[in-house]
Amino acid sequence: MSEPAFQRRELGDVIPVPADVRPDPAADFTIDEGTAIRTAPGSAAARRVGEHLAALLRPATGYALPVDEETGTIALLLDGDGLSDGGFADGDEGYRLEISAAGVTVRAAAPAGLFAAVQTLRQLLPAAIDAPGPQSGDWVLPGGRIVDRPRFGYRGVMLDIARHFFTADEIKSYIDSLVQFKINHLHLHLTDDQGWRLEIDGWPRLTEVSGGAGTGVDGAGPGYLTRAGYADLVAYAAERFVTIVPEIDMPGHVNAAQVAYPELTADGVAVAVRTDIEVGYSSLAAGKEETYAFIEDVVREVAALTPGPYLHIGGDEAQATTADDYRTFIQRVLPLVAKYGKRVVGWHEMAGMELPETAIPQFWAVAATDDGTARAAANGSKVIMSPADRAYLDMKYTAASPLGLDWAGLIDVEQAYGWDPADRLPGVGEENVLGVEAPLWSETLRTLTDVRTMTFPRLPAVAEIGWSPRATHDWASFRRRLAAFAPRWRNQGIAFHPSPEVPWVG
Ligand code: ACM
Repeated sequence: MSEPAFQRRELGDVIPVPADVRPDPAADFTIDEGTAIRTAPGSAAARRVGEHLAALLRPATGYALPVDEETGTIALLLDGDGLSDGGFADGDEGYRLEISAAGVTVRAAAPAGLFAAVQTLRQLLPAAIDAPGPQSGDWVLPGGRIVDRPRFGYRGVMLDIARHFFTADEIKSYIDSLVQFKINHLHLHLTDDQGWRLEIDGWPRLTEVSGGAGTGVDGAGPGYLTRAGYADLVAYAAERFVTIVPEIDMPGHVNAAQVAYPELTADGVAVAVRTDIEVGYSSLAAGKEETYAFIEDVVREVAALTPGPYLHIGGDEAQATTADDYRTFIQRVLPLVAKYGKRVVGWHEMAGMELPETAIPQFWAVAATDDGTARAAANGSKVIMSPADRAYLDMKYTAASPLGLDWAGLIDVEQAYGWDPADRLPGVGEENVLGVEAPLWSETLRTLTDVRTMTFPRLPAVAEIGWSPRATHDWASFRRRLAAFAPRWRNQGIAFHPSPEVPWVG
């Protein structure tokens, strides 16, 4: 194993950069064959985080790394474990990490904080730790103390599985690559004009027809999640402290639903399958009761399968719906989502009308202002920030990028990093922002390798903007820290775009 793979890391060289870092280079700790992991007494969740850490470390170290509640020099503890001196960050995801020659102690108020700390620890080990098999060298963790907490509670990625379907196993693998950057929400765009990707009880043709052969862009993205497959995926995400946000896009982007059930069109006449990438031509009929019976069935089912608090109703690009119909429609759907216990998220067009303050607009435009989103914020709504010219992972990096679109511009890593969610929109300040999300639309993507190539290295930029204190934002620092991920991603088999702005290591 070459030298750089075992290079000692600096305590602050983490993405997202931690809130407070106090290095103590005299206090390095080395993991060896005798190292064990001790987790908070009586906490099954802490134990699972400990097992997760052990599973990350075992392949490359070759060590046994037993996990129990009694002994171990790496301790993952919850508040109240009797250790002196508080001072760890508040909130579910905050944590305090102390590394000394004698051992590693993580303390957090909740298991999500322990999980966040584990992601930090992973990055603090030499790049060889991500190799799939045993490596020999010194597994040094840099000494000192980190106190960390997120700036925003919502840090998301969206994956469009309607334009091209990605299997549950592929989505799980994607989740594994996202959580390393403390992403805690995965928004699944489940339905669109080209496909319907979640099985719905009582409406079998949605997936039999519109999840079947020939669906997706160019007919090249067939497939769907069964209800059991979706439930399993949601549970997998939850074990990694990721909340799934399911999106059923309406009243537009519904051609696939109408292909399966022509009664969902205004005149009941069948429509043709669409595999092109046009938008804005399909609409549910706001004036038909059948529409709301359908939506209630879908909302009930999606809500029942989804433990997280959110249900995304789309609402974007409804050019085939009149303004009056759009208003009627959204006003019928908002209470349906509430009836099944979920909080509405919708693309920001939804904020063109009055919304309850619990509704969450997701701003996705290139524009520098949006009156509706500002009005919703003034009314108490929290906003998810996904400006397309910064946060859209499907935009090309450069004009030469083989994958992606360019309608919102070209987005290199510096463009993805160089914005702030609390000063992007007039009327939407720090206290109005729920968080950030990086959407990945799949019109041009066929494989998980394509997905990752568009995601990395830009997603870490959005992740840092969402987690780290604003005062830490610094392109030179970020670029240097990002460079260290090349050998890590190679070791993990994660494809990435080797952006020339980044001085890649190795
Ligand atoms: C969107 O990009 N249509 C939300």
